Amino acid sequence: MERSLIIIKPDAVQRGLIGPIITRLEWRGLKIVGMKFIHIDEPLARRHYAVHEGKPFFPGLIRYITSAPVIVLVVEGRKAIEIVRRTLGATRPAEAAPGTIRADFSLEVGRNLVHGSDGPETAAFEIALFFDDDELVSWGRDTDRWIFE
Ligand code: RTP
Ligand code: MG
Repeated sequence: MERSLIIIKPDAVQRGLIGPIITRLEWRGLKIVGMKFIHIDEPLARRHYAVHEGKPFFPGLIRYITSAPVIVLVVEGRKAIEIVRRTLGATRPAEAAPGTIRADFSLEVGRNLVHGSDGPETAAFEIALFFDDDELVSWGRDTDRWIFE
């Protein structure tokens, strides 16, 4: 079972898209094991996006992600990391496949609504950045049989 960190970014919150985005992740069959509503400050933003430091879009990215509250979620499932990325769609919404969240609700790479971890190491790093262990819930063993074969 894998876990992925998702951020419903400021533009999605401002546009009233928290519900539709969570709905799509739930409908896909991913289990939410952590969720909170926070305002990311600059130090946290810089740690989360450290791999992009020095790139031309970095200052704008930090301003964007710290500009208003976000929802952070941890979802769990088999191949959750890849499934989340495929459900979000390509980084550039103009290139994202129809039916993905980014394609259906956005146009601009700098306003692409949602973040999902891009690999197992990144996911572990990002989850620890935003959640303490005791903020993640266990659904209990029985629930898996409704979702996973
Ligand atoms: P994310 O980390 O937010 O899930 O997005 P991603 O993996 O699909 O894309 P990544 O390459 O990690 O880029 C992180 C975020 O930076 C912004 N970006 N802007 N103006 C630009 O050329 C540009 N490139 C990237 C996007 O908000 C992207 O999601
Ligand atoms: Mg990324």
